[in-house]
Amino acid sequence: MKNYKKMMGLALTGVLSLSLLTACGDKKADPTPTPEVENTTPVETTLKTVQEGKLTLSTNAEFPPYEMLDDSGKPIGIDMEVAEAIAKKLGLELVINDMGFDVALLAAQNGQSDIAMAGITVNEDRLAVMDFTDSYATGVQVVIVKEGSEVNMDNLGDYQIGTQLGTTGYIYASDTPENGGYGEDHVIGYESGAVAVQALVNGQVDAVIIDNLPAAEYVKANPGLTTLEGTWVEEDYAIGVQKGNTELLNAVNGALNELKADGTFQGIVDRYITAD
Ligand code: ARG
Repeated sequence: MKNYKKMMGLALTGVLSLSLLTACGDKKADPTPTPEVENTTPVETTLKTVQEGKLTLSTNAEFPPYEMLDDSGKPIGIDMEVAEAIAKKLGLELVINDMGFDVALLAAQNGQSDIAMAGITVNEDRLAVMDFTDSYATGVQVVIVKEGSEVNMDNLGDYQIGTQLGTTGYIYASDTPENGGYGEDHVIGYESGAVAVQALVNGQVDAVIIDNLPAAEYVKANPGLTTLEGTWVEEDYAIGVQKGNTELLNAVNGALNELKADGTFQGIVDRYITAD
């Protein structure tokens, strides 16, 4: 529980700016740039990107509130709005490509996308194949079970656990017991967190391990589910870019840090996370 508090603390602190509330209004207008609009801060006009003048982002829009599809099928969420703001700062137009989670990481690794943003946890394996900006959020792996279930933090390894394939939840849970996991036999990897949760509802698995904010959304949306007290692992989220592309990394990181400093970042987070 301590970790969870720390994470909530992190999410709720930061620059409290009143001006940003007005700046971020409600729904965003379409980000179609008018050719006449003069870019007042032509910061990185020379930046080389996958498509000239565009910032191409790969994501897996199945991870609310960081990324999900709205009713019209458009990707929205914290990551998407932060990316939009970063693109704007860099004088680029954001292009969002929605795909599987591991494919979204691969796309950035291979330079098919400029950035990957998908609530991506920074870990050693990923650091070996791609670069990351500074962290912008903390995630905590939690366990969802059915209300009244006998599953708890200590006996979890006796049951079947659902996760999203390719995520840290999957990686840790399927690790050997010596490494703190439950072994592959106890873990089923699904295409998305939503499908894993559906498997729990259907009784195909006994628990789901997933990041805390999506967990909260899924529990809210599915009566009869609850999150176990206690946390598993605390992680840092960051934006992934192709390894060695220092120019892009620095530009994106610089923009991200400006957004954190001027309160824009927190304003976006606050609109998606209600304190309840
Ligand atoms: N934080 C976890 C990871 O990096 C899960 C991220 C899943 N994100 C998504 N958009 N589906 O592995």
